[in-house]
Amino acid sequence: MGGWTEGYVGGIDYIRAVYRDWSPAMLCFALTLRGWRPPAALRRGSFTMAEPGCGHGLTSALLAGAHPAARFEAMDFNPSHIAGVRRLAADAGLANAEFLEESFAEYARRDGPMLDAVALHGVWSWVSAGNRAILLEVLRRRLAPGGVVFVSYNALPGTLAHMPLRRLLVERCAEGDGPLPDRIAAAVEFAARMAAQGGGWFANIDGVVERIEQLRHKSPNYIAHEYLNGDWTAFYHADVTRELAAAKLEFAGAAVPMEQLDDLTLSPAQQALAGEARDAAQAETLRDVMTNRSFRRDLFVKGGERLGRAERRALLGQTRFALLVAADDLPEGASTPVGRLSFPRALYQPLGGALAEGPQCLDALLARPALAAQGEDAVLRALILLTSLSLAAPAMPEDGGAERKVSCDRFNAAVLERHRFGDTPGQLASPLLGAGVPVSRIEALFLLAARLGEDPAAFVWRHLSADGIVLGRDGERCEGDEANRAELVRRHAAFMQRRLPVLERLGVA
Ligand SMILES: C[S@@+](CC[C@H](N)C(=O)[O-])C[C@H]1O[C@@H](n2cnc3c(N)ncnc32)[C@H](O)[C@@H]1O
Repeated sequence: MGGWTEGYVGGIDYIRAVYRDWSPAMLCFALTLRGWRPPAALRRGSFTMAEPGCGHGLTSALLAGAHPAARFEAMDFNPSHIAGVRRLAADAGLANAEFLEESFAEYARRDGPMLDAVALHGVWSWVSAGNRAILLEVLRRRLAPGGVVFVSYNALPGTLAHMPLRRLLVERCAEGDGPLPDRIAAAVEFAARMAAQGGGWFANIDGVVERIEQLRHKSPNYIAHEYLNGDWTAFYHADVTRELAAAKLEFAGAAVPMEQLDDLTLSPAQQALAGEARDAAQAETLRDVMTNRSFRRDLFVKGGERLGRAERRALLGQTRFALLVAADDLPEGASTPVGRLSFPRALYQPLGGALAEGPQCLDALLARPALAAQGEDAVLRALILLTSLSLAAPAMPEDGGAERKVSCDRFNAAVLERHRFGDTPGQLASPLLGAGVPVSRIEALFLLAARLGEDPAAFVWRHLSADGIVLGRDGERCEGDEANRAELVRRHAAFMQRRLPVLERLGVA
């Protein structure tokens, strides 16, 4: 690769992923919870959104498919990222998204409409101070008053534990001149061999050995983009807040609703200590120290308006929620940094049952006697937990639903076709959520077979076997066509019974 990478890792693409953190309904819910008025354009679905450093651009493409009245600018200087997403956009007939092959500096010189929302995922910690200054200038010039920025970064102090690991990987990957993925695999194995000796840093820092073990199962694409960039800076939250203040941005809260609940992460004594902070940025930084936080997903607003108590309550009351799993697949609890949290049946059973009937707003949920008996705070808290754990999601308002459905159907038709060859974003666009719903390749091929009127097991097996894929059952390989087709017949029956009703409810099937 030439000099255009500006110290960013070259010669290896990023992983292909779709994120839900900055879908409009999620942004609006997280902002409202923290008492900020969400941008009206986001609630209406007629917003302008940018994603600088979009990687493969799959999140922007999916959001463009889900929000036909919105406009998207996604850019990345890696031409293979942009070539791939332009092909998807053409197949899906996306007329409301531009995918630009540009550097941040080139993008900053571009004029365009004011932006209601900007997503900076996987960028802030991985680019130079010069490029952060350029991005700041984009935000200063183009973010509309009232607009929101999603920014993720490696946080201190938790990332301190990873610093020697990065150094080790950088040093070892510089050895030899073989293909980068091979050098990465060799570097990780080397780190694992060092870890196996124990002692020193490995013995003294919690989680290091586990992290190295995790890396053995991660793709070289992830490892390259996480650890091998020339620039790699972890930040205290207070410093990010100070840097972004230059673009008139103010910290609005954690993008993941659950992370706004102090009692999930801090003991009462720790909460009291955070309460002694002189301002919000210091309080947040103290929380990160007390929880040893290593990664943050934050929301910032420019000229954000505070909601009064009654208006916040009214907006939350109108927010609709949808269940992402079958009601009886809701777990009995979840792990949190302060221990295991149980989901009491008296609350979660009626809540799951109500949401399984279709999307419901908080007010409608509270009108049900079984949920009213639990109290509003408990129901809202349950929704915060379920949405954060990807078991439920905030939905878009009903208005615009018909247009979203037409656009999602067109986008999803293109995505399902791509599952023939496994070249896919891995998610379908939901007109209800205005966001993605993950589907496996087999699930997508079942849906495609239904559209085409084909026998599902035979259709799926034709495509999987063409890629040399063999299924397994109870840890055993399915040998031969017949055994694989029989396994697919069994999986199709389970799909029809449990998964299809959920996908239909979300408007993707
Ligand atoms: C870790 S990836 C994150 C991609 C995407 N936002 C996501 O979360 O999936 C960072 C991306 O920023 C791009 N990038 C880094 N420096 C850049 C620059 N100076 N100009 C444009 N793109 C850049 C890289 O090519 C890479 O695709």
